[in-house]
Amino acid sequence: MKTVLITGSSSGIGKAAVQFFQSKGWQVAGTMRRPENETELNRLDNVKLYALDVTSNESVKTAIHQAIKDFGGIDVVVNNAGYGLAGPFETATEEQIAKQYDTNLFGVMRVTREVLPHFRARKAGRFVNITSIGGLIALPFNSLYHGTKWALEGFTESLRFELEPFNIKVRLVEPGGVKTDFAGRSLVMTNTDTDIKDYDQ
Ligand SMILES: NC(=O)c1ccc[n+]([C@@H]2O[C@H](COP(=O)([O-])OP(=O)(O)OC[C@H]3O[C@@H](n4cnc5c(N)ncnc54)[C@H](OP(=O)(O)O)[C@@H]3O)[C@@H](O)[C@H]2O)c1
Repeated sequence: MKTVLITGSSSGIGKAAVQFFQSKGWQVAGTMRRPENETELNRLDNVKLYALDVTSNESVKTAIHQAIKDFGGIDVVVNNAGYGLAGPFETATEEQIAKQYDTNLFGVMRVTREVLPHFRARKAGRFVNITSIGGLIALPFNSLYHGTKWALEGFTESLRFELEPFNIKVRLVEPGGVKTDFAGRSLVMTNTDTDIKDYDQ
């Protein structure tokens, strides 16, 4: 039985991916920031939930090693966790910018780096990185989100060549608009508490 580890499985694409893989007979390590709040996925056979915040090295390390121990290995990692920061770039705070990159880009790197020794030892593995149509084209007032996803595209494409000799596959999924919590609780606006009015129109 193959095993997949998925980040950001509390809702949307990540949660649907857990349900899909499970329905196809896979073992699934569903990871999320607050697994204690999950009430559906923990009832599925062959699904185990783990606390994993992609911005925390410690939690990435702990969850991945526990999943490897519980399932005997990981075959596929879906790097899905992410959110959108929107609004004029000029009004974004440094903290907002750092958090956007820490989650959407450095979070993927953290997870990838932690899993790579395991994949190299097995001479097999697959990373599926969820970027976005926003990693291919750009719209105004999304510069920071686009920045993370375009960066993730470049990172993924280069890694694909680098890891090919080890039989480790690296793939991109670039969704268009999907009805999830992305445009709701996962959408953060840049600082609205500002005197700058030039962008209002
Ligand atoms: N929906 C779209 O139209 C669309 C289009 C293109 C690309 N995407 C991409 O698809 C991916 C999934 O988004 P979605 O549409 O499924 O939205 P979603 O339903 O809001 O799901 C986002 C997930 O990311 C998790 N997350 C956020 N910060 C995290 C962190 N620090 N550590 C771990 N998990 C974290 C959220 O967990 P919490 O419950 O803890 O907040 C949630 O599970 C994202 O990378 C997004 O950029 C979405």
